[in-house]
Amino acid sequence: MKTVLTLDELRNDISAWKKQGLSIALAPTMGNLHAGHLSLLQEARRLADRTVVSIFVNPIQFGKGEDYEKYPSTLGKDQDNLAANHLDLLFAPDLKQLYPGGVETDTRVTVPEISNILCGQFRPGHFSGVATVVTKLFINVQPDFALFGEKDYQQLLVIRRMVKELCFPIEVVGMPIMRETDGLAMSSRNAYLDPWQRSRAPLIYRALREAAEELSRNPDSLHAIEESSLRKLAGEGFRPEYFTVRRAADLAPPKVGDDRLIILTAAWLGSARLIDNLRVDIKLPGSSTS
Ligand code: PAJ
Repeated sequence: MKTVLTLDELRNDISAWKKQGLSIALAPTMGNLHAGHLSLLQEARRLADRTVVSIFVNPIQFGKGEDYEKYPSTLGKDQDNLAANHLDLLFAPDLKQLYPGGVETDTRVTVPEISNILCGQFRPGHFSGVATVVTKLFINVQPDFALFGEKDYQQLLVIRRMVKELCFPIEVVGMPIMRETDGLAMSSRNAYLDPWQRSRAPLIYRALREAAEELSRNPDSLHAIEESSLRKLAGEGFRPEYFTVRRAADLAPPKVGDDRLIILTAAWLGSARLIDNLRVDIKLPGSSTS
């Protein structure tokens, strides 16, 4: 595995591969890698001749007062992990490489509508930060495939829409959520949990599963289920931001007859903001959204 730090080095390797007609798959990350990230790499290797992972903690997707400064950085360990998983190229740029104009006034990419709901409502500017950095990576890596996890489901939809509307010739591949054995979705931010919080954290996934079961028993009572799930999480010591049932295709509120749904939640536990989601395929009857 080779590590490159600059765009010039990256472009050299990419153009050599392109000349040989090799296909490329990219998995963008912010590092502190866990098995969820590595599952993207494994699929990347299956799909393409060459694999690229980027590690870059992107300042412009963090809001004021969020965890940019304390985001865990474990580059040496990540490199060992990636090499053991047969990565071809790690791109680990610094701020100057990706933000030559500075982070305040640089050009931004904004995907309308879907960026402003759910996580976007609680983290204004977050998805524009994500779309901007991913665009920079796409332009320079020129991947045939780009892999994203369904844990960040809204992010995946933002990227899909951006790729379609900016006409990137890239296939976006969504990968299932990797969980710890107790059900907690793997996340770099789980490191912020103290042992007691860590033991409580899987309740977020349990709340999703219970809501899914309740919804299949009582598809009429969608809003009541959302509200009781919020109350349940609050009662367990979480500070939930949202707990909601949406259409999986576009995250719009479901309408009568919709059957491909997703339950999504974001909740704080101590200083960790946890997100999780669960797909449910249930046909909603007439009165469910009233
Ligand atoms: P990061 O949180 O490091 O995640 C990188 C990728 O790994 C994302 O596509 C994310 O959805 C996926 N991922 C994280 N946890 C996962 C899990 N438990 N199972 C499966 N996939 C998982 O998401 C970002 O970084 C950034 O926003 C980024 C896209 C790199 C742009 O800065």
